Order: sequence, then C-alpha cells, then structure tokens
Amino acid sequence: MHTVIDPKIMYFGTSVILISTLNQDGTSNLAPMSSGWWLNQSCMLGMSSRSQTVENLIRTQQCVLNLPSIDLIPAIEQLTLLTGSNPVPESKAERGYRYEGDKFGIAGLTPVPSHQVGAPRVLECPVQLEAMLQAVHPFEQPSSLVAMEVRIVRVHIDEQLQVEGHPNYIDPARWKPMIMNFCEYFGLGEQLSTSRLAPVFGPK
Ligand SMILES: Cc1cc2nc3c(=O)[nH]c(=O)nc-3n(C[C@H](O)[C@H](O)[C@H](O)COP(=O)(O)O)c2cc1C
Repeated sequence: MHTVIDPKIMYFGTSVILISTLNQDGTSNLAPMSSGWWLNQSCMLGMSSRSQTVENLIRTQQCVLNLPSIDLIPAIEQLTLLTGSNPVPESKAERGYRYEGDKFGIAGLTPVPSHQVGAPRVLECPVQLEAMLQAVHPFEQPSSLVAMEVRIVRVHIDEQLQVEGHPNYIDPARWKPMIMNFCEYFGLGEQLSTSRLAPVFGPK
C-alpha cells in the first residue's frame, strides 16, 4: 500500500561534501553540504546563496570538494550550524547558526595547499577535488537557492583507494562515503552484486 504524504525535505540520501573556499581576507572557509551530484568531470552543487561558500565561490571561481569518509562524522558535526558569514544572516540566526572564523580549527582538520586553486584541501579527507566554477543556475525561484556547476581540475586520492595496477581507478569496495539520509548519517553496506556497467567504465 502506498499513501500520499507532504514531506518537509526530500533528502533521499546523498554523499556529504566538505567544500573549502577562500574568504575575501585570504582565510579559508569550510562548509558541509550534501545536495551534490556528479556528471562526467563536473559536479552540480545545490546551495543557498546566503552561505559564505557561495559568496566565496562566485568571487574566486574556485573551491575544493573534499569527500569525507564515515570516520569524519564528528568533524562534520563540529561544523554543523556554523557559518563563515559575519554577520550571520537573519534566517540562519533564527535557526541557531553562529559565526565561526576558524572552521578548520574548530573541526580539528588540517589545511594543505592545493595545486591549481587557492582554497586549501582537507588532509583528513581521502578524496580532494580541486574545482573551478563554470556556471551558476537559479534554482526553485523565487528562493535563495542556486545550483553551481563546477568542473573538477585535479583529483587527489588516498593511495589506499587506488585499484592495484590501475592508478587512475578508485576501488569502490574501499571508498566509504558518508551519506546524509534525511538529516541522519549513514555509510554504505557491503557490495550486493556486480554490475553490467562496471566493465564499461572500470579498469580493462
Ligand atoms: C551534512 C550537511 C549537509 C548540508 N547540505 C547542505 C546543502 O546541500 N546545501 C546547503 O545550502 N546547505 C547545506 N548544509 C548547511 C550548510 O552547511 C550551512 O548553510 C553552512 O552555514 C554553510 O556554511 P557557510 O555559510 O560558511 O558557507 C548542510 C549541512 C550539513 C551539516
């Protein structure tokens, strides 16, 4: 039996992305988000334009998409309900957000220099994707939401994720993404079966 419901959110489960950007004063900002999806060499990021991250991305055209593994849930929790925007936008203040200028410090994470963008990478994240902004699309107007299309220009991964003998392939059995599923954290279960698509994109 199915029934009709009216859910407040449609967070059916996507990976958490920790975006680093550069603030106007040269310090760095860090923000968790999960409304992202991947296509070819690009990623589409759904965010509120009232965030410091969007402001920084539009100004600098650059960011790093750091992908945390499930062991970084405590760090993501430290960053929750924080913003790099000062003053805190009214709509966020009402929801309990506060300003934090040192996101790396408060989360116990380590900034390391990127190769092609100004924003730092997060050392503790097994995947770090340097990216350039390609386009900003309005989303669900009228609202503050935007979809930002970014192109990945450099991929850094923890060597342990590489497929042996195939350095440009990531082993899906070793990568443990952090999934936000209706505002709660989950990991992935074990692999269930092989896919007929795997030979098309996987190592030959
Ligand atoms: C796990 C998680 C996922 C989130 N996903 C999104 C998202 O997809 N889009 C968004 O606009 N905000 C999302 N947020 C809220 C942002 O982190 C929040 O707006 C934050 O203040 C942004 O930081 P900034 O203002 O310093 O950029 C998420 C927060 C958490 C903890």
